[in-house]
Amino acid sequence: MWGGRFASGPAEIMEEINASIGFDKRLAPQDIRGSLAHVAMLGKAGILPAEDVAKIEAGLKAVQGEIEAGSFEFRRELEDIHMSVESRLREIVGPSAGRLHTARSRNDQVATDMKLWVRDTLDALDGQAADLQLAMAELALKHAGTVMPGFTHLQSAQPVTFGHHLLAYVEMLNRDRGRFRDARARLNECPLGAAALAGTSFPIDRHATASSLGFDRPTANSLDSVADRDFALEALSAAAIAAVHLSRFAEEIVVWTSAQFGFVKLSDRFTTGSSIMPQKRNPDAAELVRAKSGRIIGALSGLLIVMKGLPLAYSKDMQEDKEGTFDALQTLSLCLAAMAGMVRDLEPVPDVLKVAAGSGYATATDLADWLVRELGLPFRDAHHVTGRLVGEASSRGIGLEALPLAVMQAEEPRITDAVFAVLGVENSVKSRTSYGGTAPDNVRAQAEGWLKRLAGQTA
Ligand code: ARG
Repeated sequence: MWGGRFASGPAEIMEEINASIGFDKRLAPQDIRGSLAHVAMLGKAGILPAEDVAKIEAGLKAVQGEIEAGSFEFRRELEDIHMSVESRLREIVGPSAGRLHTARSRNDQVATDMKLWVRDTLDALDGQAADLQLAMAELALKHAGTVMPGFTHLQSAQPVTFGHHLLAYVEMLNRDRGRFRDARARLNECPLGAAALAGTSFPIDRHATASSLGFDRPTANSLDSVADRDFALEALSAAAIAAVHLSRFAEEIVVWTSAQFGFVKLSDRFTTGSSIMPQKRNPDAAELVRAKSGRIIGALSGLLIVMKGLPLAYSKDMQEDKEGTFDALQTLSLCLAAMAGMVRDLEPVPDVLKVAAGSGYATATDLADWLVRELGLPFRDAHHVTGRLVGEASSRGIGLEALPLAVMQAEEPRITDAVFAVLGVENSVKSRTSYGGTAPDNVRAQAEGWLKRLAGQTA
């Protein structure tokens, strides 16, 4: 492609380090789409004669057909997808193919291709995240009143409901979706026509190519157009945060399915056995979702490090944006799908959850609140009285609700047997009616609200 100035071909090892075709061939659909938009604009602007435009368009479609059919031969000596498509185009349509590269460079071409790929991928991830939200909201509605322990520091804190716990993840996923959409909105400016770095002397119409590729407008600065990879960084950072959310839930599934917790059962479809220990049911899918967050976060830091020292404008370093971005966003897609599958197969065990919800003096706060509400004690004093009663129960090895009334009255004489009503976990969650609290009626209303909002948003 640049034979004019070169007497010999590249060294074998140069070809190996330089070639990106092994991974950028996946940009073929975007590359052809971009070329079709570019050549149509060149024709309309009178830069290319109509017959060349027609030949090139037909040739690009033929190349596209070969790629879709799997008959296209990708050759490493052609370096990347841009040169591979153009070289095949020349074989098909002859010298007219050479006119396609008028007023553009691979620098604006690759930036455009990558933006198109990231944009489509963000849209797909948004739909998948909505589907996971839907699965969670459906399960949350079913278990709006199923009590379970709520933890802080992984110590029993206060009873909550299983539905409430799930809806916490629905909120996280909604912020993830907001970040996907924000990234999409900000990336939606078209670099095509910035050419190598300085723009072009041809009278191109960048607004036309931008709008025909679904961009809101062309990028405003030609140097920035070819030097910018913020769109990949933003997509990766949104993906990394989403992956962290999935990893946290995956960790909970791993813990909850253990024999020691036994909070939930996961179907055979999402567990594996052990070749040596017949009793084992391992939550491998959850473990892998937890682990794969590592490579997604890694892709983000990898690309940040690639970009941080680059002078304007394009440098070949930027070719390293691809493998990590492709891999990370596809990995997130896989994790979202696996998580949605697991949630749909997840069965909480209400009896175990209820017993666990009441252990560890989880209703101590309810007792303290009762002392404040019914007896008018200042909260700090109520906290103190409750603490002594927990100590007493603990030394007897019993729960708060099993403490005789006389023992409680020895600590605070005004306590009556009405107190026992708030020591049960069901009453505890029922009382948490503040906005955003875990009361089953709240949770039910929230879950129903989500199901309504999510209708029609899933992939
Ligand atoms: N394969 C290259 C990349 O992915 C395309 C751009 C090459 N531009 C250049 N001036 N060598 O970044």
